[in-house]
Amino acid sequence: MPRLLLGLCAALVALAAAGEPLQAPDRDSARNYVLRCMGCHGAEGGGVPPKIPSLRRSLPLFASLPEGREYLMRVPGASNSALSDAQLAGVLNYLAQRYADERTAARLAPFSAQEVAAKRRPALSDVASARRAVLARLAESGVTLAEDY
Ligand code: HEC
Repeated sequence: MPRLLLGLCAALVALAAAGEPLQAPDRDSARNYVLRCMGCHGAEGGGVPPKIPSLRRSLPLFASLPEGREYLMRVPGASNSALSDAQLAGVLNYLAQRYADERTAARLAPFSAQEVAAKRRPALSDVASARRAVLARLAESGVTLAEDY
């Protein structure tokens, strides 16, 4: 058992040394949001109606469904951003934590670099229909969200 723990520690140290954090710390994610997303989505995530969606309600809700998570990772602004997979996971987690109510926050699984790497590409070519499909799934559980931004 101790040997296993030592092995684990060594692996973690090796990862850290390779400059690959398991998950970017929140401070970095807040900064990445400012650098890569805020210009369009705004300092408070409120978007610019009617062109740019607010992330405040949709993001934590979408993060609670598999198809919603894929949508969040594949929406062009996220998918095509210069952020690495780990950094994009960090920004999505940062936003989900920031905007989820307590009940939603408690059941949200964090995004990982692995999940982002597997799902991020290709970027959605038809955002509107992908979004409608997620809204329909949410509606099944009694949650409604407006189709327009
Ligand atoms: C150049 C402006 C721009 C930038 C930068 C940008 N977005 Fe967006 N984002 C949009 C627009 C416009 C949409 C609406 C969908 C579409 O047309 O792509 C959108 C949609 C979204 C959505 C879907 C929200 C919903 O309710 O459907 C998410 C999530 C999102 N963006 C996250 C991000 C993240 C995270 C970043 C930073 C990594 C980012 N965006 C950067 C413009 C931008």
